[in-house]
Amino acid sequence: SRFAIAWIDSCASTNSSLMERMPGDDGRAHVLVADRQTAGRGRRGRQWQSWPEGSLTFSLLWRFAAGTPAPAGLSLAAGLAVARTLERIGVSGVQLKWPNDVLVNGEKLVGILVELQPARDRSLAAVIGIGINISLPPGAHVEHHAGVTDLARALESPPPSRPALLAHLLAELQQLFDLYAVAGFTALKSAWEQRNAFAELPVRISGEHAAVDGICRGVDDDGALLLDTADGIQRILAGDVSLRPL
Ligand code: BTN
Repeated sequence: SRFAIAWIDSCASTNSSLMERMPGDDGRAHVLVADRQTAGRGRRGRQWQSWPEGSLTFSLLWRFAAGTPAPAGLSLAAGLAVARTLERIGVSGVQLKWPNDVLVNGEKLVGILVELQPARDRSLAAVIGIGINISLPPGAHVEHHAGVTDLARALESPPPSRPALLAHLLAELQQLFDLYAVAGFTALKSAWEQRNAFAELPVRISGEHAAVDGICRGVDDDGALLLDTADGIQRILAGDVSLRPL
């Protein structure tokens, strides 16, 4: 198989474990799944809370050869792969929130954290961490602020088991990353934009120091957000910014 999968009880963060251990290149994509994370990480230094049994949390190490297209679109590609997986198992109304949240009915179902480690030979190791809410404990929606949902609510039938869900996700991720490696984000742009939750809507992009408002005009060939501001179109790179509706 092209995947080497380790499924463990617990760790601090599957992303941190893979980044620290950085398994040697044996031609396989290494996957680390943990039933529980004691220090799950989100984007922009946030925590990621998950529930044993109620979530699927894993990270995938994917290597891109030197000379593959700009990595900026990778996190969008990962979001698209997750969205397509959810659609395939029967979830409707799946949307993407730039750069890489996956929403259903405007609520967050999946969080993705992509961390990159460029090598000296200019190849790239990408650790893609994915956390999916499958069925949150009663009260979690309320307690954990509105805007969070789970697969049990998004599906009319019972959600698949975690191993089955993982298998679906890995197949889809493999397909999109293989395409990305040869054609870059350009090949995925229109599929991404079809699911853009904020297309043509006013949004605020906040960085550490400043915020900028504009109308979301989709993304470009690198996966940068195109924001139509009072000063014209600005390209926003994912980095350390967040988007919220205005
Ligand atoms: C976000 O929404 O800000 C991203 C959340 C990413 C969570 C996943 S769970 C598996 C992997 N390990 C981590 O520590 N984080 C990611």
